[in-house]
Amino acid sequence: MSKTNEKPRLLIADDEAANISALVSALRDENSIIIARNGIEALERGNAMLPDLFLLDIKMPGLDGYEVCRRIRANPALKTVPVIFITALDAEQDESLGFSVGANDYITKPFSPAIVRARIKTQIELKRHRDHLEALAEERARQLLHAERLATLGTLAAGVAHEINNALTSVSAFSEMLVRIQRKIAVEERDRLEHQLGAGNPVITFIDTCGKYAAAIVDACDRITRIVSSMQSYSKRGADKPQPTVLADCVKNAIQLCVNNLKYGIDVRVDVPGDLPRVLAQPQQIEQVLINLINNAAQAINEIGKTGVINIAGRHADDHVVLTIEDSGPGIPPGKLDTIWEAFYTSKGDKGTGLGLSISHGIITEHHGRITAENRTEGGARFNITLPANI
Ligand SMILES: Nc1ncnc2c1ncn2[C@@H]1O[C@H](COP(=O)(O)OP(=O)(O)OP(=O)(O)O)[C@@H](O)[C@H]1O
Ligand SMILES: [Mg+2]
Repeated sequence: MSKTNEKPRLLIADDEAANISALVSALRDENSIIIARNGIEALERGNAMLPDLFLLDIKMPGLDGYEVCRRIRANPALKTVPVIFITALDAEQDESLGFSVGANDYITKPFSPAIVRARIKTQIELKRHRDHLEALAEERARQLLHAERLATLGTLAAGVAHEINNALTSVSAFSEMLVRIQRKIAVEERDRLEHQLGAGNPVITFIDTCGKYAAAIVDACDRITRIVSSMQSYSKRGADKPQPTVLADCVKNAIQLCVNNLKYGIDVRVDVPGDLPRVLAQPQQIEQVLINLINNAAQAINEIGKTGVINIAGRHADDHVVLTIEDSGPGIPPGKLDTIWEAFYTSKGDKGTGLGLSISHGIITEHHGRITAENRTEGGARFNITLPANI
């Protein structure tokens, strides 16, 4: 369909030159016209040029208008294009046959140019409204599917987090106990035992190494606790009240939480003024979004080398605040710019869950903001977050 600001494209099919010229002079000011002199030509041109409306004569050599209309309705590319018959056949059964093969309107000759123009306009407007409603319905269905997947994920996360927490409490408590016992033995008994058993005895090796391993288990437990608590905070999101939030602080906290991923030659440059307007938000949620984006940027940079730059910038524009997170990685394959937001889409195999962006999108939408992705002309990806300023 032509854009709303362009002239509608009408395909007029008639085998009489005089009829065509009468229609063209009545319609050319408001429409751009495609002409076909018989039914076959109408279908061929229709297929090639996808008009906004067909104006069909009925009696034409070869395929008549009824058959052309039937074939239009059977053609996936054309089936929703409005068809108006304009014909000298004025019997009731001709008109009724016209509607039964799928026409939207039926005009008898001789015609009044003003009425033909008005009826064409009505059909084109109806088609635009239908298309708009269909697009809205599709978008709504997509959002519902997305929300449903996120809700399932939230419920799943809450259940899994609870189970993991129970098991983790024991692992964590026992490994801390091991660390304490090892320290006590190392301080009070080790030298005496070494003297008794000899250096290199397996008992001495056990005393020396067991503390290191137990401390590693304690660290790993800490990490799991952090992950589990972020899953829980995700599933409980919405419970805390939004508060006026300084984005510069969220950025600082998020970077601190990402240090493990940023230590190898990744230069993080931050330009988020502390005096930007605050946003009404749950700060942990915004931090979670930033952590996802920063980790993605770091992982993207690591894909093509060990060093790179992540720029995080903030600015005030009209009544909102914009944060951009850009990286010098390989960028997002252009065909994937929509797919990356889907829950469980990942290009990282077992190393990714494919939830980071999907959750981030959910959080920003709940904050009445927008998050978008694009590729930078100089290479790498850029994510833009827009949030209403709380002035
Ligand atoms: N900065 C980026 N540069 C290039 N591709 C990216 C970038 N950020 C995201 N992507 C692409 O989007 C996909 C989805 O990202 P998302 O954060 O949702 O999941 P993930 O990073 O794969 O897994 P997880 O977040 O669970 O570790 C990634 O697998 C990657 O293909
Ligand atoms: Mg990710």
